[in-house]
Amino acid sequence: MSIKKILKMKNKEKIAMITAYDYISAKIAEAAGIDLILVGDSASNVMLGNEDTVKIGMEEMLIFIKAVKKGAPNTFVIGDMPFLSYQVSESEAIKNAGLILKAGADAVKLEGGKHVAPLVNKMVNYGIPVMGHIGFTPQSYKQIGISSKGKSKTEEELLIESAISLEEAGVFSIVLEMVTEPVAKKITESLSIPTIGIGAGRFCDGQVLVWHDFLGLNKDFEPKFLKRYLNGFELFKEAIENYSKDVKNGIFPSVENVFNPVEGSDQK
Ligand code: KIV
Repeated sequence: MSIKKILKMKNKEKIAMITAYDYISAKIAEAAGIDLILVGDSASNVMLGNEDTVKIGMEEMLIFIKAVKKGAPNTFVIGDMPFLSYQVSESEAIKNAGLILKAGADAVKLEGGKHVAPLVNKMVNYGIPVMGHIGFTPQSYKQIGISSKGKSKTEEELLIESAISLEEAGVFSIVLEMVTEPVAKKITESLSIPTIGIGAGRFCDGQVLVWHDFLGLNKDFEPKFLKRYLNGFELFKEAIENYSKDVKNGIFPSVENVFNPVEGSDQK
């Protein structure tokens, strides 16, 4: 996958993106033929147990990005820019975006609308591919609240304006998070770059879901937009219970799992 191919998919083929944070998950995602992998700053919640994405930094993100690229060397990987890695100064933002690319990502993603467009334009001019992210932007939840965006005319206009200014700044795609379906449709139809929705309805050019959410590992997270494809938490729990029982009952390890078993032992 390349940016050229991603752009060509618009109006031809829907784009499937998921998040991943580690080597084996990335390997599974690549084996499944996923179009794009996002190493999201949602790692803060699902990998590190924090209550928000504000608490993750560059150091941790770089570890996750390196692991994912090792597991999925042939898949287009996007690395999220964590909170305060691009807000403080333009030079810091460009340096951090560069570190994310050096860690193996093929592009970076950052949150924000028209106010980040000048920064995005600088990055793109320096050869850094950027994915935008508007609507509900989790890094600013303390300011904007956790709710869908685009319900009022003012919000709708701001979102459309932001999407257009990001496209003009040079992003190759935009994530629309928790944007009302009519507004997400309007944005998608106004842009020549693909939109990737999460909780933004059916008309985006692609969709993204978080690994732990769609695989049912994040048991207590059940927003309306989520579809679970596995009951991961229960399946993992059952496997651990079975292993634990086998150990306690002397069923594991059996003779097949043993190097040089004791001769004459009648244990299986
Ligand atoms: O961090 C993340 O996982 C994201 C997706 C929800 C788009 O930004």
